[in-house]
Amino acid sequence: MSDVKFEYQFKDRDFNKLKEIVYARTGITLGEEKRQLVYSRFAKRIRKLNLQNFSEYIEYFEKNEESEVTDFINAITTNFTSFFREPHHFEFLKNFIAEREMASRYCRIWSAGCSSGEEPYSIAMTVLDSIANPDAWDIKILCTDIDTSVLRKAEQGVYDAARVEGVDERLRSRFFLRGKGARNGLVKIRDEVRTNMVFRQLNLLDEFPFKKGFDLIFFRNVIIYFDKDTQRKIFSKIAKLQQPGDVLIIGHSENLAAVTDKYALIGRTIYQRLDN
Ligand SMILES: C[S@@+](CC[C@H](N)C(=O)[O-])C[C@H]1O[C@@H](n2cnc3c(N)ncnc32)[C@H](O)[C@@H]1O
Repeated sequence: MSDVKFEYQFKDRDFNKLKEIVYARTGITLGEEKRQLVYSRFAKRIRKLNLQNFSEYIEYFEKNEESEVTDFINAITTNFTSFFREPHHFEFLKNFIAEREMASRYCRIWSAGCSSGEEPYSIAMTVLDSIANPDAWDIKILCTDIDTSVLRKAEQGVYDAARVEGVDERLRSRFFLRGKGARNGLVKIRDEVRTNMVFRQLNLLDEFPFKKGFDLIFFRNVIIYFDKDTQRKIFSKIAKLQQPGDVLIIGHSENLAAVTDKYALIGRTIYQRLDN
């Protein structure tokens, strides 16, 4: 395709180079159809840094990799998410927790690619709503993402009230505080929900730093951005963190076919770790 003409010169060579760096740094695969997206995401960096064109930005990146890489990564990730997205997964979670209420009262959950926090807070609210006495439980929810700006938002737990409109009224009044005065129109997740949650930056391409495994992993709407080879590598690391019977949940348009044989499908995009 010929060089695209926009505010900043964006040559084929620039697109190819950016694709290469994005893939190496994040695993995200950018096809030809993402050319416009790549332009608009990095044009913001070019403007901010007062550069003239994409070639200058690439040169800048290569000279200042260490200081630029965080903004570079934050610019290219797609962070779309919502509270209780794919509600059937939270129905499953209720039953999963109810079964443990009778047994261990121990649970380690990982929200991998948690974006701005809507997913892990939906998990935490569901868990709290499903158990009688949280003090009798040992629960931890690890929330990770490669993107530090969404992770900061997740940690703050403050959202536009419009984002929680679809949340069940009972859960909304139990788990959110409504902003007043200057904070009118905002809601904040209550501390009670956050007590067992930990937020950390983690690039899924890197070696996992975990000492213990996870009973349940939410890994939803992340692998769609990766090619099969990257998916295979990540699932091979994930499988090592789970015991037979543990559960892995992926996004509605994703599947594990040709990627891992360590899991069996037990529900809609819900998988159970096999004994292999
Ligand atoms: C579309 S969001 C999914 C959010 C949430 N899981 C959901 O389903 O609503 C995808 C997230 O994956 C993160 N991501 C992309 N590449 C990653 C990588 N290599 N390591 C960790 N997170 C990554 C992005 O930053 C983004 O927040």
